[in-house]
Amino acid sequence: MMRTHHCGELREAHVGETVTLCGWVHRRRDHGGVIFLDLRDRSGLVQVVYDPEAREAFAVAERVRSEYVLQVRGRVRRRPEGTENPKLPTGTVEVVGEALEILNRAEALPFQLDEEDVGEEVRLRHRYLDLRREAMRDRLLLRARVTAALRRFLDARGFVDVETPMLTRATPEGARDYLVPSRLHPGSFYALPQSPQLFKQILMIAGLERYYQIARCFRDEDLRADRQPEFTQLDMEMSFVDEADVMGLVEDMFRALFAEVLGVSLPDPFPRMAYAEALARFGTDKPDLRIPLELVEIADLVREAEFKVFSGPAQDPAGRVAVLRLPGGAELTRKEIDGYTEFVGRHGAKGLAWIKVTDPARGREGLQSPIVKFLDDAAVAGILERTAAAAGDILFFGADKAEVVNDALGALRVRLGHDRGLVAEGWRPLWVVDFPMFEWDPDERRWVALHHPFTAPRLDDPARLADDPARCLSRAYDLVLNGTEVGGGSIRIHRPEMQEAVFALLGIGREEAHEKFGFLLDALRYGAPPHGGIAFGLDRLVMLMCGARSIRDVIAFPKTQTAVCPLTRAPAPVSELQLRELNLRLRRVP
Ligand code: AMO
Ligand code: AMP
Repeated sequence: MMRTHHCGELREAHVGETVTLCGWVHRRRDHGGVIFLDLRDRSGLVQVVYDPEAREAFAVAERVRSEYVLQVRGRVRRRPEGTENPKLPTGTVEVVGEALEILNRAEALPFQLDEEDVGEEVRLRHRYLDLRREAMRDRLLLRARVTAALRRFLDARGFVDVETPMLTRATPEGARDYLVPSRLHPGSFYALPQSPQLFKQILMIAGLERYYQIARCFRDEDLRADRQPEFTQLDMEMSFVDEADVMGLVEDMFRALFAEVLGVSLPDPFPRMAYAEALARFGTDKPDLRIPLELVEIADLVREAEFKVFSGPAQDPAGRVAVLRLPGGAELTRKEIDGYTEFVGRHGAKGLAWIKVTDPARGREGLQSPIVKFLDDAAVAGILERTAAAAGDILFFGADKAEVVNDALGALRVRLGHDRGLVAEGWRPLWVVDFPMFEWDPDERRWVALHHPFTAPRLDDPARLADDPARCLSRAYDLVLNGTEVGGGSIRIHRPEMQEAVFALLGIGREEAHEKFGFLLDALRYGAPPHGGIAFGLDRLVMLMCGARSIRDVIAFPKTQTAVCPLTRAPAPVSELQLRELNLRLRRVP
C-alpha cells in the first residue's frame, strides 16, 4: 500500500498511530535544525516534522522543495502546547517523520500556488498547477456534487439519461455553428450541436416520456464571463405536461439541490414575473431581485416638455423615458456622476440627466440639477411624487428608444447596487414568463423567434398566428437566479400544421424548413405527444453556487476570451495532408 491515510483526515484520534501518506510539498520551513513540511493531497494539509535524529530521512528532507511529490512514513502525535494551528482541520496534530521518499521532483514553479494576481493565460497554460489550489479544487468538487445530486434527483423521478450525437446537423439556437468537415463526403460538414433540442423532442415522439442529459453544447459566439464556446447544459424534456408540471418539477429539483449541496432552503413556490413587467421595472428579462432599485416610467409626465431630450422619446411609440431613484445618492460627486454617465454611454445612452433632491417639500427650490430648468412645475411635481423622492436621493433619467433606456438604466441599476452595497445576501430565484413569441428585427425586416422556433404559441389555431404577431405570447419560461439566466425552456409545438405556420411566419420557406428540419416535421406526423422541457446552464449554476466570477473558474479546462486553450494551444494549424484528405484547401494569406 502506498498510503494508509489521507493528509487532511488526521485528527487527535490518530495520535500514536504510524501512518504512510503521499502528497505534494505545500511548504517547507527550516527551523534551526528541525524541518517542517506541509504535506498536501486532495483531502487537505498536515504538518510533518523531521528531526536530525532521524538521520536518513532528515537528509532527504533537506533536499525537498515546493511541490515535490513525497511518500512519508511517521507517527502521529499531538502538537506541543501553544503550537496548534486552529485554521487547519489537522491543526492539533503533526506527523513525526521517520522515513521519506521523493517520488518525483518539481522544477521552480511559474507561479506560487498562494499567489493572488496570476494572469489568466498563465493559470490556464499551467492548469495542473492552478487546479492544485484549494479554491479551484473546491469548485471542481462542488461541481461534481451538483451533477451527482441532479442525477440522483432525476433518476428517482423516472428520467432516462440518453446521449445524443455530437456530429450532427445545424441546430436552431441562433449562434454560429462549429463545423466539422466530412472526409467521406467532400464538401459536406457536420455541425456540433448548439443544444440537443431536436433530439430530445424526437425522444419524446419515440415514447421515452422523461429524458435528461448532462450535455455539451457548442456555440461560436462572442465570449463573456458567463459564455464559453463549449459549455454544459442539464437538458430535460417531458411528455404529457404543461408549464406547471415542468416548472413544479424544476422547483423541486432546485430546492433539493440547494438544500443538499449548500444547506440553503429556496422559496416555495418561486416567484413569477411577466416579461413585460420585468422590462418595465428592471430594464431586463433577468432581473437581480437582490437589488432594491426600480425603474419608473415618466413618459406621460414629460410628453409636452420643452426639453426635447425627454419629449422626443416620450412621443415616440417605441420610446421610453424612465427614472431610477437611488436613495442617499445626492452625496454622489460630480466625478462619480460623470463616471456613471460614461458607463451608461457604453450601453448606448446619449446622456444621463439627473436631479439631486435636497428638500422635496420646496419643489424645484429644493432640487439641484442641470435639467429642471427645462421642466415645468407640474412635470417636476409629478416626477417627485411618482418616484417617492426623499431628501438625499438622486434621480437618474434615461430617454431614448425603449431598448436603449432598458439596457442603460438596467445596467446602471446593477452597477449602483454593487457600488453602493445594496445587494442583499441570499438566493432570489425568479421565473420569467409570458414572453412574446416573435420579435421584429428592423435590420433584417422580418420576425424572429424570441426563444427557438419549436416553442409553442399560446394560441391553438395556426390560421390565427399571423393576425398580430407582435402580441402573440409563447409558452416559454426562463429561470433567473440572482440576475443570471440559469435556464430556459418551453412547451413545444407538437402538431405539424402549427410548426409549419411558425416557420412560415419566420420567413423559413417550406423548402428550407424541409431541408433543415425535415426529420422533425416528419416525426411530428407520426403521433407526437404534447411535450415540453428546459435546459440549464450547468456552468453558470455552479458559478453562482460557489461564488465564482466567471464560468471559466468552474470548468476544468476552459477557453480564454478569444476561444483559445492555452494548455493544449487549440485551435492549431493542421498538416497539408490532413487538409487534402478532407478536401479542404487554405487560401494563403499573402
Ligand atoms: P438556451 O439557448 O436558453 O436554451 O440555453 C439554455 C441555458 O444554457 C446556458 N447557456 C450558456 N452557458 C454558457 N455559455 C454559453 N455560450 C451559453 N449559452 C447558453 C444559459 C441558458 O439559460 N434548447 C434550449 C432549451 C430548451 O428549450 O429546452 C436551449 O438551449 O444558462
Ligand atoms: P444636453 O442638453 O445634451 O446638455 O443634456 C442635458 C442633460 O441631459 C445632461 O445631463 C445629459 O447627460 C442628459 N441627457 C442627454 N441625453 C440624454 C438621454 N437620451 N437620456 C437621459 N439623459 C440625457
